[in-house]
Amino acid sequence: MGMKDDEVELFLRTPHNATRLSRKWYFLVGVVVGLITSFSAFAGVYLVFFDQVNSQFQSCSSQDHNSVTKTPVIDVASSQCDISKGSDRSDCWPEYRDATQSSCEARGCCWSPGVEQGAPYCYYPRNFDRSYMLTFSQKTSTGVIGHLERTTKSPYPNDSMTLQLEISEETSDRLHIKIYDPSTSRYEVPIELNKEQSGGGSYEEFDIKLARNPFGIIIRRMSTGQILFDTTGVSPLIFADQYLQIGTALTTSNVYGFGEHRSGFKLDTNWKKMVFWNRDQPPEPNLNLYGAHPLYLNMDEQHNAHGVFLLNSNAMEVDFQPFNGTGAVTYRALGGILDFYIFLGPTPDKVVQQYTSLVGRPYLPPFWSLGFQMCKYGYNSAEELKKVIARNRAAKMPYDVQWNDIDYMKDHLDWTYDNMTYPGLPDIVADLHNNSQRYVIIVDPGISVTQQPGTYPSYDEGIKDDIFVKADNGSNLVGKVWPGLTVFPDFFHPNSSAWWYRQAKMYHDQVPYDGLWVDMNEPSNFVTGSITGCTSNSLDNPPFVPPTIDGSSLMAGTLCPSAKHSLSTHYNLHNMYGLSEMKVTSSVLKKLLNKRSIVLSRSTYPSAGVYGSHWLGDNLSSWVDLYYSIPGILNFQMFGIPFVGVDICGFRGDTNAELCTRWMQVGAFYPFMRNHNSGKKDQDPASFDANTQAIMRSVLETRYRLLPLLYTLLYRSHVDGGPVARPLLFQYPEAVAVDKQFLWGSALLISPVLEQGAVTVQAYIPGDVWYDYYNMSQVSTVGQSVLLDAPIDKINLHVRGGSVIPTKPAAVTTDQMRGEMFALLVALDGNGTASGEVFWDDGETLDTVENNQYSLVTFSVQSNTLSNRVVASNYTHGVETSLSGVTVLGVPAKPGSVTVNGKGAAFTYDDKSRVLTIASLTVDLLQPLSIKW
Ligand code: NOJ
Repeated sequence: MGMKDDEVELFLRTPHNATRLSRKWYFLVGVVVGLITSFSAFAGVYLVFFDQVNSQFQSCSSQDHNSVTKTPVIDVASSQCDISKGSDRSDCWPEYRDATQSSCEARGCCWSPGVEQGAPYCYYPRNFDRSYMLTFSQKTSTGVIGHLERTTKSPYPNDSMTLQLEISEETSDRLHIKIYDPSTSRYEVPIELNKEQSGGGSYEEFDIKLARNPFGIIIRRMSTGQILFDTTGVSPLIFADQYLQIGTALTTSNVYGFGEHRSGFKLDTNWKKMVFWNRDQPPEPNLNLYGAHPLYLNMDEQHNAHGVFLLNSNAMEVDFQPFNGTGAVTYRALGGILDFYIFLGPTPDKVVQQYTSLVGRPYLPPFWSLGFQMCKYGYNSAEELKKVIARNRAAKMPYDVQWNDIDYMKDHLDWTYDNMTYPGLPDIVADLHNNSQRYVIIVDPGISVTQQPGTYPSYDEGIKDDIFVKADNGSNLVGKVWPGLTVFPDFFHPNSSAWWYRQAKMYHDQVPYDGLWVDMNEPSNFVTGSITGCTSNSLDNPPFVPPTIDGSSLMAGTLCPSAKHSLSTHYNLHNMYGLSEMKVTSSVLKKLLNKRSIVLSRSTYPSAGVYGSHWLGDNLSSWVDLYYSIPGILNFQMFGIPFVGVDICGFRGDTNAELCTRWMQVGAFYPFMRNHNSGKKDQDPASFDANTQAIMRSVLETRYRLLPLLYTLLYRSHVDGGPVARPLLFQYPEAVAVDKQFLWGSALLISPVLEQGAVTVQAYIPGDVWYDYYNMSQVSTVGQSVLLDAPIDKINLHVRGGSVIPTKPAAVTTDQMRGEMFALLVALDGNGTASGEVFWDDGETLDTVENNQYSLVTFSVQSNTLSNRVVASNYTHGVETSLSGVTVLGVPAKPGSVTVNGKGAAFTYDDKSRVLTIASLTVDLLQPLSIKW
């Protein structure tokens, strides 16, 4: 790594930060300042260009143009191939199969098998120069533009021989690097980006160096000198029509993100490959799954984080080189352009905020959707469904939403219900509504083509509107899903929204559902490509398909890549199909219900969190799946889809009382909480014995009590874009690999049991002030891993000192609990201080935040006084926005008296736990508040 050969240095800094530069950079700055021959200043930023080969500074102008070097002849025995450490070798034969010494050397690469497990046999030599060189560069008001040229061909057809480079500092916390072919118009990802909006980060200074030959980019954080992006010394740049390759060095092995995959939270960088091609595939390690999120977060040794996002929706793989050597990741995308965004952090929360500021802030779900939800694939009849609803109501389970899977449909047809098996379904829905419960249904994209003409409007009207995906030959592409032969709506088509709305409305008029579950939208297809197969063209048979891709072909389990949408080919848009359905469905629901709703989608792509939610698909009723749910949930917090959950108790296979109990305990802290099942055995809480029911009820009540906190966190995420469920790493940077515990915001630490038979849990309690949620006393051993008691009826919860948590009494539905007063749980830190906030609105009106129809109150505790600040008070609702009591943890001694807004108030104090309780209040939270003790 580092600068080699001739280089151009583009040095960005602001004068005010000179004191923060490391010694290394002081030296560099000194040299630069001493030799400057030309500089320009704008917006407080200085640019300097440096050509190291000629050891002289030069100003870059449009006249700069260097000649292109000749193609070298590679001598495989030369020192260029002498890269003894396997992990320093970048793979020159990603096809994996069929590599031979002669084919490898024909690529100009080195051949040396068996050096280290996982290391490539065929690898790039040092200073591989059959790539691009920088032939021109010029500063712009925010960065630099450049021209890249190559004279040799890559191993892949249709190289772009000339490329345009654009690097710009788009906001104070975000950098954009775009490499594209200026001579031809190529597909670019059609999502809306908020280019102007910064992520709320402070100004982070960085510098950019450009290497001329071979071309490379090095970007470092000025304050620490740490590398943020470095394409030199790793896999060289290739930009062919269907093969785009670029590598970058990583700062440390603390790398996170790159979804959707099943893995631990901290990614395995030991020669791991991850592939992005949305697929109907139950979550298993090393496979491409339902969504694609090419974003990673890297945390350096000084605990500064940055994020790198490649905005590319084509099939792609990323390939890690381990950290005992180079420590790098190579991207291989099958189309589009190279469109990188670098988020400067420096905290992980800031990285996520900066990412969502670009792709879109998460939507605010309705309050009812924070409640407990139940589903099963295979209730099979209205009678069975009624029975399940009735027994959970009778068992007094907090329970807000009932779902129906495809078994409610007639012959699996969208927007129909089966009159034989589900007679009176509208009455069931009316009964749910009468009990303040909601009803959500599944719909799939596959629209049956085999119904009698004139009997199935979804097909007939779709044909009339011509909104189905076309095969390469222009006819509607026919595949096969649950209803048999189907076509697939092109949700990118401008007329698809009106068509989908008509179907949704027609059915809603009969069965007034409250939300939609859009499943199978990778899209899943039970035949390969189409019922007539696919073409032999290069979209269906690209020159390179990542060998790790499940099914080894792009058409496996989905549509032909050559299929056509109104915007582009399926080859380009496949990974965005689910997103397109979410977007259309969310706007349809807004129009239809005129209220906030839920769109739960199996397939997602960046920006999906703006429109809906996600669950992690068809998991198994197993302990290992219970564990994997936590890193899965945490990953989607980074991807800007915080309202996420998994099928509690497991979807495939049968669960058991112990597993389901432990899963309900963890699931009570998933932002989105749904128990869903396809097994034979029922797994709704009331299907278990009385003891198990009592445990499940109790943890559901704990969740409901804490819903005002969860709702406030979702509000925060909606406005600031950060995570809701947080990895410990985000609060305690030393916790680099903790993924069996997680936080709600910064206030609540959740340490569940994830192992069969365990009645203790080994939990990391960070070095901070913590209180046991149940007995409310302070934890004495912190800053280490601690063995905690965890009998079957307990999930360990700890409250961080310094937090103020809003709560409401639990009830069987969120509607009921909304009508109760708030209470505050105050946990004092070592200085006797704490802070927190509560957001409240009517829970379902559209755009309450945007239209200022909410209340927001912040709390702070100092010098034995709790006070509030009413930031907004536009949702006032008497009881609902009043305070009934305060519990203060960590009060060192019994107070002499307590006053509430100047008046004496009754209180109790527990010497042992040091808990002060002030109850029986009725105080308006939207008026100034002062509680002193
Ligand atoms: C696949 C989904 O992942 C699952 O949740 C659902 O039950 C089945 N499709 C049937 O609709």
